[in-house]
Amino acid sequence: LFAGNTDFLKGVVAMDGLPPADRIEVCFAGRSNVGKSTLINALTGRKGLARASNTPGRTQEINYFTLLDSHYLVDLPGYGYAEAPLHVVQQWQALLKSYLQGRATLRRAFVLIDARHGVKAVDEEIMKLLDIAAVPFQTVLTKSDKVKGKDRDASLERTRKALANHPAAYPEIILTSSEKGDGIPTLRAAIASIEA
Ligand code: GTP
Ligand code: MG
Repeated sequence: LFAGNTDFLKGVVAMDGLPPADRIEVCFAGRSNVGKSTLINALTGRKGLARASNTPGRTQEINYFTLLDSHYLVDLPGYGYAEAPLHVVQQWQALLKSYLQGRATLRRAFVLIDARHGVKAVDEEIMKLLDIAAVPFQTVLTKSDKVKGKDRDASLERTRKALANHPAAYPEIILTSSEKGDGIPTLRAAIASIEA
């Protein structure tokens, strides 16, 4: 699947701008700066495909990427923090929530958690929303290159505990480093395993 063609399709700012719901769709959600856009670049092997930056709030639209003509990868605006005016941030958050609850073809949400910081209250909020909307979600611990040994195990264990309360959560947690490439093949395989 990931050996095939990938492209940017469009940035969406309102629900009525979503492309036709006719493909397998997966999305990447998570706090600002957790590494969503960078992860999409690592998955597709195309560095500049999704715009990433050190400034939280980089992604401000729902960005659609096509994988062959069968899949959409969706890069979402971050939640929790952004260097933008409050009313703008509130607008993204409203769109994000409508999208996560209202996209019929959304097959799996990947909820990204910084491996150093673990699950925060805002992450819990999104997970609860996914539980209620019955959108299966899988947790990805990002920036694994920044945690080592015992700290990494502790982070995995804490995340596992947090997921136990969420009926929509897959028990399997994927640890990734977009920098080093760790976990990228596993995540690709998880996406490829979703059947039409
Ligand atoms: P928003 O669009 O603001 O919500 O952020 P985002 O989640 O898309 O984060 P983005 O991909 O823009 O990455 C944020 C910062 O984290 C960038 O400076 C990336 O280079 C860095 N980063 C992302 N993934 C990794 C990783 O696996 N390891 C390390 N060390 N840094 C990473
Ligand atoms: Mg982004």
